[in-house]
Amino acid sequence: MIAKGGLLEGKRGLIIGVANKRSIAWGIAQKATEAGAQLCLTYQNERLGENVRELAAELKHPLLTMMDVGSDSQIVMAFDEIRKKWGKLDFVVHAVAYAPRQALAGSFLDTSREDFRVALDISAYSWRPSPTQPSRSCRRAAPS
Ligand SMILES: NC(=O)c1ccc[n+]([C@@H]2O[C@H](COP(=O)([O-])OP(=O)(O)OC[C@H]3O[C@@H](n4cnc5c(N)ncnc54)[C@H](O)[C@@H]3O)[C@@H](O)[C@H]2O)c1
Repeated sequence: MIAKGGLLEGKRGLIIGVANKRSIAWGIAQKATEAGAQLCLTYQNERLGENVRELAAELKHPLLTMMDVGSDSQIVMAFDEIRKKWGKLDFVVHAVAYAPRQALAGSFLDTSREDFRVALDISAYSWRPSPTQPSRSCRRAAPS
């Protein structure tokens, strides 16, 4: 059981990247909860959603939503849901990484342009500031 109270008391945060209990995002979620935060966890797809739902049972009043960061429409839908339910976010953790399996084997010099593009798109570009992205959602004032 996770203790309550601390630096993040009253804060609401989004954590992207929990897949299982070994995910660094899950470690962050536990620590943020210990510090008092209420969290939204996203999951990449329904299969991973099962794990995330089980883990989230340890959190206080979590919000859960699906978000594949490779899909702009899923990003928009997830942030719309958070905005409707919470109005604003105080912090966001992006702990997402992906590379196609073949790009993780052999020499880096053999990495194809397409595999490199996919890895950068999911692991880095998905965090870009844009109208649909958290940097702006975080700034939005919560409805009274
Ligand atoms: N685990 C560690 O100790 C550690 C330490 C330092 C840095 N990191 C970095 O943290 C990041 C996450 O690593 P991890 O060890 O937690 O691995 P992990 O596999 O548990 O986490 C990666 C997450 O990315 C998600 N993801 C991949 N593609 C996605 C997509 N299209 N849409 C949404 N989510 C997607 C996966 O679902 C998973 O939740 C990596 O960049 C890793 O290098 C990890």
